[in-house]
Amino acid sequence: MKYCSANLLFNRNSAFRRLAPRLITIRQTNFNDKLTKSQNPSYGIRLFSLNKWHNVDEKLERPAGLDRPKMPEKKKVGPISWFNLGVSGIIVGVMMSFYYYAKGLKEEAIANERKKTIGKAKIGGSFDLIDHNGKPAKSEDFHGQWVLLYFGFTHCPDICPEEMEKMAEVVDILTKSKEQVQPLFISVDPERDGVKEVAEYVKEFHPRLIGLTGTVEMVKDACKGFRVYYSAGPKDDDEDYIVDHTIIVYLLNPDGEFVDYYGQTKDKDMMSSSIMIHMAKYKSDQKKGLFSLGS
Ligand code: NI
Repeated sequence: MKYCSANLLFNRNSAFRRLAPRLITIRQTNFNDKLTKSQNPSYGIRLFSLNKWHNVDEKLERPAGLDRPKMPEKKKVGPISWFNLGVSGIIVGVMMSFYYYAKGLKEEAIANERKKTIGKAKIGGSFDLIDHNGKPAKSEDFHGQWVLLYFGFTHCPDICPEEMEKMAEVVDILTKSKEQVQPLFISVDPERDGVKEVAEYVKEFHPRLIGLTGTVEMVKDACKGFRVYYSAGPKDDDEDYIVDHTIIVYLLNPDGEFVDYYGQTKDKDMMSSSIMIHMAKYKSDQKKGLFSLGS
């Protein structure tokens, strides 16, 4: 057999033959002969490369088996047959259904993104507190910078100091990588942690660490937004008590949105790399945002 299957297909299509006599002659080649001679399965692909097209033009004689009289005569039905119309209809239908399918996927992705944003908004929120210098400090004051936020209390015997040290180390790792993050400490023990106590406490951990406290009500509101649980335990003979509280470091982006959180099991390296990934993603999202504004 001298013809490739595509040529046989064209051969059956009389409209194609009428419209493209030049291509019909190209069909008369010895592709398959060459394939068998070469014994190379990849040869068929190479036949279509540019430097092989001369083979096609060399063989222009029409073999007897393809003479038009041997084809059964078809009824003339005009330039557009019902068959062609049907095929076109199916193609258009497939393309349109694919278009709507792709559109549906895109809409679903947007809806998911929206859901994520709503989910994000559930954790985090605003706070209105007093910093360790006695000045009012609102969550909005920290917009424009990345924030690491930890809720604890200055009398905490072990866990809080460990977490604060870890947070300070993360700040230093990021600074070495030329990334800035503002560490914050919010007291969940406002009755004991006044401005002075918090100021003493934060300077033990990092020079850039800002401590925040406030009235019982102010602290309660701040914790509510971040879903921080805290509960003061019973007082002992020295009026000392432990505050049971959520041990989580929160990451907020420069828009003040909650991005991620890190529990006790996350060490400083895990935290630092995660934060850098979030920072890179934020930067690329911002660039994308600028592009979509421009278009
Ligand atoms: Ni603690």
